[in-house]
Amino acid sequence: MNARDLRKKYIDFFTSKGHVEIPSASIIPQNDPTTLFISAGMHPLVPYLLGQPHPFGQKLTDVQKCVRTGDIEAIGDTYHHTFFEMLGNWSLGDYFKTEMIPWSYQFLTKELNIDPKNLHVTCFEGDVDAPKDIESHDLWLNSGISEDHIHYLPKKDNWWGPAGNAGPCGPDTEMFVDTQPEAGPVEFETGCQQGRIIEIWNDVFMGYYKDETGKFSPNIQKNVDTGMGVERTTAILSGFKDNYLSDIWQPIIKKIEEISGKNYSDQNYTRAIRIIADHIKASVFIIADGVEPSNKEAGYVLRRLIRRSIRQGKILGIETNFIFNIAQAVLDNQDNYGGEYPSLNQNKDKILSLLEAEENKFRKTLDKGLAEINKLLGKNHSVSGKEAFTLYESFGFPVEMIQEELAKNNLTLNIDEFNQAKENHQKQSQTLSAGKFKSGLADNSEIITKFHTAAHLLHSALRKILGNHVGQAGSNITSERIRFDFTHPDKLTTDELKTIKDLVNAQIKLKLPVIVETMPFIESQKQGALAFFGNKYPEIVTVYTIGSKENYFSKEVCTGPHVENLSQLSQFEIIKEESAGSGKRRIYAVLK
Ligand code: ALA
Repeated sequence: MNARDLRKKYIDFFTSKGHVEIPSASIIPQNDPTTLFISAGMHPLVPYLLGQPHPFGQKLTDVQKCVRTGDIEAIGDTYHHTFFEMLGNWSLGDYFKTEMIPWSYQFLTKELNIDPKNLHVTCFEGDVDAPKDIESHDLWLNSGISEDHIHYLPKKDNWWGPAGNAGPCGPDTEMFVDTQPEAGPVEFETGCQQGRIIEIWNDVFMGYYKDETGKFSPNIQKNVDTGMGVERTTAILSGFKDNYLSDIWQPIIKKIEEISGKNYSDQNYTRAIRIIADHIKASVFIIADGVEPSNKEAGYVLRRLIRRSIRQGKILGIETNFIFNIAQAVLDNQDNYGGEYPSLNQNKDKILSLLEAEENKFRKTLDKGLAEINKLLGKNHSVSGKEAFTLYESFGFPVEMIQEELAKNNLTLNIDEFNQAKENHQKQSQTLSAGKFKSGLADNSEIITKFHTAAHLLHSALRKILGNHVGQAGSNITSERIRFDFTHPDKLTTDELKTIKDLVNAQIKLKLPVIVETMPFIESQKQGALAFFGNKYPEIVTVYTIGSKENYFSKEVCTGPHVENLSQLSQFEIIKEESAGSGKRRIYAVLK
């Protein structure tokens, strides 16, 4: 079965069961500064899993674009991918196990025609946080899976989520296919280790909430969250042991073969071809959703993907611009990409021109940088953290790429020394760029945490000065600035802006503590905590109070993280105020 048929079968099946198909959300999280990319189908649905009503109801299904950056270095084997598509269906407080497990069985055996004898499933064995999932076990058994193909496993295997530090999660039941039944019976664990038994689908019974302290509490509503990887399932259904052999990848791989004159089946080149195909496809999707190559956050991941592909191109003997052509092959793959995702065709010119510009830029320094590494290796037999920083700064080598070059010589980079050199450099450039944060990846989370706390101060100050009609309407925090949207009909005057700024700075001067507590949502409302995501929350919420519990400046329900004391914040500055649509205003602010 090809990918297009799989997507269609999945969506048709769940719409026939009363689900509404929703479009894939952007690959870039909206309103979640803690992660750079959407990594699972449930990720954009977090507010709704926590109880906010979804405009399309309680039963949803989609194909979600996902990016996982945890193992970019692992790309090159048969089954890891940076970009992948996840099929999913959700119950937002609607159906639960008794519907989901028989549906899963029906879909796998009737729609995908998998012989039930070749299926294995796992269930949660139970611990202090949640009981043994006997119900799921029994539902599988009654559906038609034999007892010896149902396995109980602990939390490390059979619990999914949350997607970030805190959020909805729960025990899951996972479905596996034995891809070589002709080889005779095999123990489940052995089969998994051999790569013969492969997971294809995961049903999460998302009835729990994990807070920042690691505590699990029962969530307000019983959700179902499921995920099936398109790339892996397509390969298995087509009988391929290598995901890259399916129709999803082949047109892209053919293009790389054509340009390089090297064959995918030649083991000297297979890995490099996979890396290029994977990285360029991911880059095309990332650019389509609005990211440009840069030295920070998502832009840095994008830069790494493009530059690593160019480096791998050299292994295939490609010495001139080619990324553009591979990207074109992704866009031309109508059955899978150009045809399925309108954002690709809409942004075609931008995608191709940004990729070409980045390749031009890196090609200017790539050979010199590689020569420099070889020179250092010849002279010192190693590359120091400081030297690596020069390679990063002057030749544009992402640090991970330097590490890879060293690994070929069984050397490791002193990353602390590299970070130190980078920090020293940044300190120097910070003094040059008045008031603008130019921090790199290493300290982003710290700045974002500070901004996050400053956003709470701003929210309260706005309400105190403008009135209680002010409510948060959105917020987006990067390492550069806070962007805060709120409800208010009029443009703010210069005086109002100054008063608001002064009020925030006065709190910072008072060095108020930030108190974090978990409590029932009802209690948080009794105490007057502000809440943002609509009117439904998990039963137990985290509340951040700035000041003292009785006499506070700000109290908000929030997942954090925040600084512990306002003494950690520097001076607050409002950079800009503008309209954010009808009845809404937007403020950009920084800490100087
Ligand atoms: N959220 C679950 C996963 O990613 C379905 O596996």
